Amino acid sequence: MKKSANLAASLTMLLGLVGPQSGLSQDKTVDDGVFTAAQVASGQTVYNSQCKTCHNMRFYRDTLRSWNNQPLLYLWENIMGTMPADNPGSLMFEEYTDVIAYILSENGFPAGETTLDPDNGMDAIKILAP
Ligand code: HEC
Repeated sequence: MKKSANLAASLTMLLGLVGPQSGLSQDKTVDDGVFTAAQVASGQTVYNSQCKTCHNMRFYRDTLRSWNNQPLLYLWENIMGTMPADNPGSLMFEEYTDVIAYILSENGFPAGETTLDPDNGMDAIKILAP
């Protein structure tokens, strides 16, 4: 028992050295099935009515590229604070989250079992360039 606890502790330390700042949070990427298919479906509805008029998918692809390696939560906060440009912050939290799920899905990232949730671990999910 004691031995395995020590092993876990040194593994954590090792990961802390190699990985980013916090060795405790388990880092994921947008490629790890971090949103559900249901979120993609409702995100598409929001996207079509709130985002499509001003940006096309190519724009979001470029955005994901320029946000490569940043925490997904930062992009969520950025979009919530500034979009839609003609009425920032006007959507519900879930709608912003679902739109991100839809954008990720359209850029080839897989849906999974976990619901994307800005209050739960989204700071530990890294954006990848599509
Ligand atoms: C009325 C037009 C308009 C609407 C509607 C709109 N946007 Fe934007 N958006 C802009 C403008 C203008 C910019 C800043 C200039 C640019 O980068 O093209 C921008 C920038 C962005 C960026 C880049 C952020 C960055 O810093 O990299 C993202 C992501 C984005 N919008 C997402 C969305 C989403 C998601 C929606 C729907 C909820 C949305 N936009 C709706 C006009 C709009």
